Amino acid sequence: MLLLTGATGLVGSALLRRLTAAGEPVRCLVRDPRRLGPERVRVQIALGDLADPPSFRNALRGVRTVVHLAAAIRDQPAGSIEELNGIATWRMVAAAERAGVEHFVFFSALSASGHNRTRYLRAKALAEQAVLASDVRHTVFAPSIIYAPGDAFLTLLHRMAMVLPVMPVSGRGRALYQPIWADDVADCVMAALGDRTHPARRERPRYELAGPETLSHQAIVELALRAAGRPRPTLNLPTPVVSRALRVVETLMKSKAPATWDEAELLEVSMLADRGTADAEALGVSPRAMSAVLGA
Ligand SMILES: NC(=O)c1ccc[n+]([C@@H]2O[C@H](COP(=O)([O-])OP(=O)(O)OC[C@H]3O[C@@H](n4cnc5c(N)ncnc54)[C@H](OP(=O)(O)O)[C@@H]3O)[C@@H](O)[C@H]2O)c1
Repeated sequence: MLLLTGATGLVGSALLRRLTAAGEPVRCLVRDPRRLGPERVRVQIALGDLADPPSFRNALRGVRTVVHLAAAIRDQPAGSIEELNGIATWRMVAAAERAGVEHFVFFSALSASGHNRTRYLRAKALAEQAVLASDVRHTVFAPSIIYAPGDAFLTLLHRMAMVLPVMPVSGRGRALYQPIWADDVADCVMAALGDRTHPARRERPRYELAGPETLSHQAIVELALRAAGRPRPTLNLPTPVVSRALRVVETLMKSKAPATWDEAELLEVSMLADRGTADAEALGVSPRAMSAVLGA
C-alpha cells in the first residue's frame, strides 16, 4: 500500500492518475475526498489533515511507501505555514518510521534554506532536514516552480487579464525559475518509485527538478498571457506597496483572499537547479518547455 498526501494538488493529481493506471494500491490522506474527482473510487481514503497528527497514524497502517506532497504556501485556520510544512513533515516521517514504512518520498523546494527570506522555504528546509535525518529510506525532490495548464496561478493571471489593461508584477520581476510541468514531475516520481526494480538507482537520495528554460518571473507572466491570447503590458509595482496591499486584502478576506503576501514573496526568490534538467533526465524524463506545454 502506498500513502499519498496532497493527492488533490497539482503534482498529486497527475501522480495519482499514473499510480492507479499502473494498478498500484493507493491510500490518499485528504481533507475532502470530493476533491479527488473520479479517482476517489479507485483508492482508499484516509480523512486527515496536516494539522491533525493523530490522523497520520490511521493513514499509515499497512503502508510500505509514503509520497508526502501535501503542503501549504499560506496560513490556514488550523495551522501556520511553519506547522503545515515543517512540523507536520517531521511528525509524518516520525510516524512513518514507527509504522515500519520502507520508503518515504518527500517534496522540498529549490532554494529551501534556514536563511531564506520566505517562511515557506525556511519551513521546507526544516522539513527536509527531518526527512534526511530519519532512518526510513528516503527520496527528496527539490523542484523549481511547478505549473500545469489551468493551475491556480495561471488562472489568476487570466482572470486579471480579463479586467485589467496592464498586468501588475510584484517587484522587478527579476527572480529566475526553471518552470517544470506537473506531468513531468509526476513521471519523475513514478521513475523513482520504480527504483525497486533498478537497485543501482537506489543510492540517489535527492533530485533537483527543473524545466529546460530559465525564465524570470516577468517572462513567465508575459508567456502565460501570450498563451492565453491576452498579451498585456506589465507594470512593476514596488514590493513594499504589494506587501502592504496584500496584507490588507488578507485581513479583510481571510482565507478567501485571491493572493497573500507569503505567496507573492515566493516570486521574489530565484529557484534554479545547478544541474538543470540532468536529475530529471537521470530518471528517464525530458522535461518539456513551458512555452510548448502552454502553446505560447
Ligand atoms: N507548485 C510549485 O511551484 C512547487 C515548487 C516547489 C515545491 N513544491 C512542493 O511540491 C509539492 C507538490 O506541490 P503542488 O504544487 O502539487 O501543491 P498544491 O497543488 O498546492 O497542492 C497542495 C496539496 O496539499 C494539500 N493540503 C494543503 N493543506 C493541507 C492540510 N492542512 N492537510 C492535508 N492536506 C493539505 C492540498 O489538499 P486540499 O485539496 O485539501 O487543499 C493539496 O492536495 C508540495 O510539497 C510543494 O510544497 C511545489
